[in-house]
Amino acid sequence: MKDLIQKFKENMIANANDPNFRHHQWFVKYHLEIVYQIAMELCDIYPEANRDMVEVLVWLHDYGKPLDFENEKDVTLVKGREKLTEIVFPPDFVDQAIEYTEFIDRRRDMDQYPIEVQIISSADAASHFVGPFYACWWHENPQKTVEELGRDNQKVHAKDWDRKMVLPEVKEAFKLRNEYKKEMWGEFPDKFLN
Ligand SMILES: [Fe+2]
Repeated sequence: MKDLIQKFKENMIANANDPNFRHHQWFVKYHLEIVYQIAMELCDIYPEANRDMVEVLVWLHDYGKPLDFENEKDVTLVKGREKLTEIVFPPDFVDQAIEYTEFIDRRRDMDQYPIEVQIISSADAASHFVGPFYACWWHENPQKTVEELGRDNQKVHAKDWDRKMVLPEVKEAFKLRNEYKKEMWGEFPDKFLN
């Protein structure tokens, strides 16, 4: 299983580093690797989670993005299934990984889903609070005003914080990061000192 996961990971990383992908400069280092690390830390907290499945979901959940940005969700499911099958993951494992990826995208009632889905949903959301993720959006959309960029960030933030980040350990650990994030659209504390 480890060899299969390694092959799939290498394939996703190669796709994400393709210069034709609009996020190629940062997507591996500042998204996928952070999702991976948070997801593995969550597997330590939730030992009942299937770690192999969680790791595959790290490399699968955005599989379609570098391949067809406009249709990424459908492409993730179709091309992701093709690639996992080509690498010869067991068919039942492939079916479950694809089903779980569909669950991740629902973004509602996340606490109703299997722990592996909750781990990836929470890690995916949390990764957006780390490093230059929001700054990359500003960099890639220089035609927008500062107000518009802040509102874009606010929408992503609401989805991530309110719906996707479902595991309490992540929310607790990211409280302070969350307060800083709100400053991107002008929500400041009453006082900056003390
Ligand atoms: Fe992601």
